[in-house]
Amino acid sequence: MPYGRPTDMPVPGRLRDLATPAEGVCGWSRTRDRVETYFDKTATRTWERLTSDAPVSRIRETVRRGRDEMRAQMLSRLPDDLRGARILDAGCGAGQMSAELAARGADVVAVDISPSLVEIAAARLPQGLSGQVQFLSGDMLSHDLGRFDHVLAMDSLIYYDRHDIARALDTLARRTQGNIVFTVAPRTPLLMTMWRAGQLFPRADRSPTMIPHAPAALQKALQRVEAPGRLNPLNRVTSGFYISQAMELSI
Ligand SMILES: C[S@@+](CC[C@H](N)C(=O)[O-])C[C@H]1O[C@@H](n2cnc3c(N)ncnc32)[C@H](O)[C@@H]1O
Repeated sequence: MPYGRPTDMPVPGRLRDLATPAEGVCGWSRTRDRVETYFDKTATRTWERLTSDAPVSRIRETVRRGRDEMRAQMLSRLPDDLRGARILDAGCGAGQMSAELAARGADVVAVDISPSLVEIAAARLPQGLSGQVQFLSGDMLSHDLGRFDHVLAMDSLIYYDRHDIARALDTLARRTQGNIVFTVAPRTPLLMTMWRAGQLFPRADRSPTMIPHAPAALQKALQRVEAPGRLNPLNRVTSGFYISQAMELSI
């Protein structure tokens, strides 16, 4: 392990159940496997740096700023005082959202398919918050995760097609009593061009391709799976190469 583990650092667990309701029906697990390879091997160090205070290129600096803004917007959809609330940080990455949720009093379940990122997230959590966050590596749809008051999924559904996102939201909505706040890549001209280029030239490093979505098509996909709740687009954040659309499913 590349990190010395202080004795009081939370020890990440590993989910046994990887099976998801989408399994076998569509491409969820295929996309998830690509995402895992990318974040757990190819891009771990890049992601670790981007999510820290370490100097980065000017382009990455704009991405960092955009992500900070998006995180704040997503958090603003939740009550200020989160004491007593059980919240899923679905695809927690290096744990920035989890730490903020815990600082507001929530009991956080921080899950990510990349064990390396979960290790980084656990190592970074401020000491005083360690009792409030359970770190797990595995699929955000695992049955073992239980029920939640709120779910946040920042930029963790951006690689999945609309049918997979709809099934994932349906699964999560049936375990959640408040809202699910998540992001998608919007269908802007820039992102559509990048997406088409990615389709034409599949990447050799097997990095996952972001799929842009229109809110109306997502809404239709949700209706098709009879997901509970009401879908509303929230704000869009554009900062350099970071373009992300926040959405909310109110249950
Ligand atoms: C772009 S990163 C965002 C991380 C974090 N939410 C943030 O905003 O800093 C996407 C994350 O989603 C995770 N992810 C994607 N699909 C997942 C799945 N099915 N289950 C758990 N984690 C997943 C990836 O491993 C990666 O860490």
